[in-house]
Parts: sequence; C-alpha cells; structure tokens
Amino acid sequence: MTELTTQKEKKPVIFSGMQPSGALTLGSFTGALKNWVELQDEYDCFYCIVDLHAITTRQDPADLRRRCLEQIAQYIACGLDPAKNTLFLQSHVAAHSELAWILNCYTMFGELSRMTQFKDKSARNVDNINAGLFTYPTLMAADILLYQADLVPVGEDQRQHVELCRDIALRFNGTHGDVFTVPSAFIPKTTEGARVMSLIDPTRKMSKSEPTGGCVYLLDKPEIILKSFKRAVTDSDGEIRYDVKEKPGVSNLMSIYSVTTGRTFEQIESEFAGQGYGAFKEAVGESVVETFRPIREKAEALMQDKTYLTQVYTDAANHAARVADRTLKKVQKKMGFVAK
Ligand code: TRP
Repeated sequence: MTELTTQKEKKPVIFSGMQPSGALTLGSFTGALKNWVELQDEYDCFYCIVDLHAITTRQDPADLRRRCLEQIAQYIACGLDPAKNTLFLQSHVAAHSELAWILNCYTMFGELSRMTQFKDKSARNVDNINAGLFTYPTLMAADILLYQADLVPVGEDQRQHVELCRDIALRFNGTHGDVFTVPSAFIPKTTEGARVMSLIDPTRKMSKSEPTGGCVYLLDKPEIILKSFKRAVTDSDGEIRYDVKEKPGVSNLMSIYSVTTGRTFEQIESEFAGQGYGAFKEAVGESVVETFRPIREKAEALMQDKTYLTQVYTDAANHAARVADRTLKKVQKKMGFVAK
C-alpha cells in the first residue's frame, strides 16, 4: 500500500464493486475482472466487495463471510495486484453507510421507484421488499462519490444506477458547491464475450441462479467445467458460425472461446470447419479449464494464507477510509453538522 499512498502523479480514479452474494462466475471474469486487471496500471483503482449491498437479500452469515474472503482471494488470483489496487470490503469503511444516509436525503422517492433493478428484484422477492432494496442505489452512489471516482466500470445493467449517482452528485453540488466529482459509467465496448449466456438456455444471461450446468464458476474443478461444456445446448444444423439470433448456443460458445484464446470469430470458424459440435464443445471446455486452472490454484493457496489475506484487506480498508473520510468531512461541513 505504500506505493499507493506515496504515489505522486494523480491518475484518474476508478471505483467498481461486486456483490459477494454468490461464487464468481465465468461472466464475472469476462465481464468485469478481466477488464479490471487491464486498468490497474493507468488508473487509481478501488475495487470493493459490496457486502452491505449483499444483505438487501437474506444471506447466511457463515456463507457471506466465506464468500467475501474467497472473493478477495479470487481478485488477487485473477491478477489484481494489491499493491496497485485498493481491494477492500465495503463494511470495513464506515463512511459508506454514513454518506449513504445523507444521500438518501438528496434522492427522490420517484427516482428510486423508477430503478429497473428495484422493480425486478422486488418482483422476485415479494416477501422481502425491504427499504434497503429500495435505497440500494444511494449506497452505491456513496461508494462511488466517496472516492471522487471519474469512471465506474460496470455492465449495461448498472448504467441506470450510475446515471442516478450522477444526478445525485449534480444535485448536491448544485446546492453546496463542487464537493463531488461527477462520475461516468465506463462500459467496455461490447467486446465479444463480455456477456456470457447460460449453457443450458443461451438466450438467458449466465447467472448464479442457473440450474446446475448452466453456469460455470471460477473455482469449479476441471471435470465439472468439462461436463458443463459437453452438455451445452447448441442447435441441429451442425455448423460453427457466429449468428446470435439463429444460433445463440454456438455463438455463446464462440464468444467464450474467443475470450479464453484471443482468437477472432473467423479464426474459430476456420479452425473448426467441418468438425462436429462435440469436438468444438470439448475445445471450448478445455480452454476455460486452462484459463481458470492457474486462477483456481492461486486462489486456493491464498485461502490457506489467512495472514496475508487479512493484511491485504486491512491495509486496503485503512487506505480507503483515509480517502473516504476526507470526502465525508467535506460533506458534513456543508451540511452544517458541528465538527467534533
Ligand atoms: N450494484 C452493483 C452490481 O450489482 C455492485 C456495486 C455496488 C457497484 N456499488 C458499486 C458497482 C459501485 C460499481 C460501483 O453489480
């Protein structure tokens, strides 16, 4: 962390977060982690495990604790260097909760009511539509604004939340002067493969709620990964060709193979010309196994080294808190709270 705190030149700030609500998937890797790694040299990156957001749906405490630690280990195993990035847990920095409350008072009921994620999640959790689920975006705004982030790398599904964060920042700045940097969503050009679809129903996004075999996890053992790819749904015309509309299953497998091998669609088409789906699916499975193998091995080793992991998230939380508290102090002063 010393490099971070002594670093002279000011790099643009990046903030992003991922919920520890399930194990990391192939989608988390291609859609987020792989891109995060590419940003670590040019930006001052804060990558947060948003455990406070995760409790908007019920979590088993022991599972939550284990997943948070596993997630940090996997961030590092994927190539995020803890000396270059601030890899921390949201609940370790009290300023997130404190600023979130203040921002609740600068966010309109109507704005929160229009969030599509709230509408989707409340439709899916009818027996637990808690206030946290509703105010989820104000906590997310606090995450971003505390670090004066310039860019927020997220998937398309989070664009609306980042837009709301901008609106809140502009509203606050409009009333109190320039306190917050107004951030922008940083959505990777839809590099093929950024959006991985279910292996069972390739018209649906690959998600943690998939039935077994539909979703591939970063820590899955090779046999499991190979089996899921062997069973992946394709179609009946036997041709390996990219066409999302007509051939969603084959196209999804091509995207995955493209991400794991760096090959273009044309190269993949000619590589497998005249071969059946069997050989193709096996090759895709193998490529994922080989991409994940070093990550899984490193993550497993890190999970055994609790002292190191604790050091990483503690140092990161200390650094994050210093940055966040600076912003929070400014805000509290603007509000008229008496300084202690
Ligand atoms: N809401 C994001 C998601 O579910 C996670 C998140 C929380 C986040 N806070 C953030 C993402 C701040 C970017 C910036 O994917």
